[in-house]
Amino acid sequence: LAKIEIKLGDIPEGKSVTFKWRGKPLFIRHRTDEEISTEQSVNLSELRDAQHDSERATDPKWLVVIGVCTHLGCVPIANAGEFGGYYCPCHGSHYDASGRIRKGPAPLNLEVPPYSFNEGLLVVG
Ligand code: FES
Repeated sequence: LAKIEIKLGDIPEGKSVTFKWRGKPLFIRHRTDEEISTEQSVNLSELRDAQHDSERATDPKWLVVIGVCTHLGCVPIANAGEFGGYYCPCHGSHYDASGRIRKGPAPLNLEVPPYSFNEGLLVVG
């Protein structure tokens, strides 16, 4: 099955870059220290699909998610919405910088694909 390798050094801190993986958009986000501490301190009882940030981002600097809204499949926009992560303009779903659904109709967090790190490369798949 198709894997992709992404050179992490090319993605500046604070940016979310979109790649394509198995026909779907893939968001790689180089998170800032502020984003990391915000997401790690979210109280799980506030979440619709309760997952701690550490279950979603094995290396807290990097968020890796499938860029498909879990409501009806539109592609969310990076660095938009009320929670500083992603915003889906189709029906107004707001995701945080851990890709977790925080407001709007989507039922679930953005999906985290299988990935690993290898000497400055992120390998997805
Ligand atoms: Fe994203 Fe409906 S498809 S909010």
